[in-house]
Amino acid sequence: MHIETYDQLSEQVATLVAQQIATEPDCCLGLPTGQTPIGTYKLLSTWSREGRLNWSKVRCFALDDYLDVPPALSFHTFLSEHLYQHTNIDAGNIFHPGMTDNYDALIEGQGGLDMTVLGIGGNGHIAFNEPGTQFLSWTHCTWLEDSTRKANQASFGTSRPPQKAVTMGVKTILSSRRIVLMASGEKKKAIVEAAFRGPVSRQVPASYLQAHEGLEVLTDFGFSLTR
Ligand code: PGA
Repeated sequence: MHIETYDQLSEQVATLVAQQIATEPDCCLGLPTGQTPIGTYKLLSTWSREGRLNWSKVRCFALDDYLDVPPALSFHTFLSEHLYQHTNIDAGNIFHPGMTDNYDALIEGQGGLDMTVLGIGGNGHIAFNEPGTQFLSWTHCTWLEDSTRKANQASFGTSRPPQKAVTMGVKTILSSRRIVLMASGEKKKAIVEAAFRGPVSRQVPASYLQAHEGLEVLTDFGFSLTR
């Protein structure tokens, strides 16, 4: 499918997730928050309400979350509101990094991630692996860059977004059997090109994904990559 619009991008990513669930009903999914996946979650929610998707055995793992925020502003709540509550997912199959001090062992214990959907930050972060993050990083707590906090300001009204977060590490993400990175809008074009056409560098954490053999990058600005 040729992607030119945000709606087409959303539909394509939602279709990949739906196909993953159809072929592997008990798959483990790594799921992002942010503006980019909202259209994808809308479609998945609609298809779920129509009974076209069965989440009863699917395990979902949030990529990251803020630390020290009211529950209403957490990514866990975001995923519940945009996706989980519209599906028949079992509450016991919903996981997030704030729930344990060893998220990687928890993921491993569930069989590992089959498909991870990612956005990309304007600074090249994946999940909250900010520039400078080591390749050899597992789930960890991190300080957020000012640019990240600014980009996420809209959800916080007049208060400032938190400074600290917990995130799957680069190795956690690369251990996923499939990775689908989605990016929308001209403002993401330069960083996507730097990440996938430029050198692998810890200043652009998304560039670490170049090493992954099950990677797909989908955008609505003419860049795509399939392994
Ligand atoms: P966005 O965030 O989807 O809100 O642009 C992406 C990210 O920071 O990973």
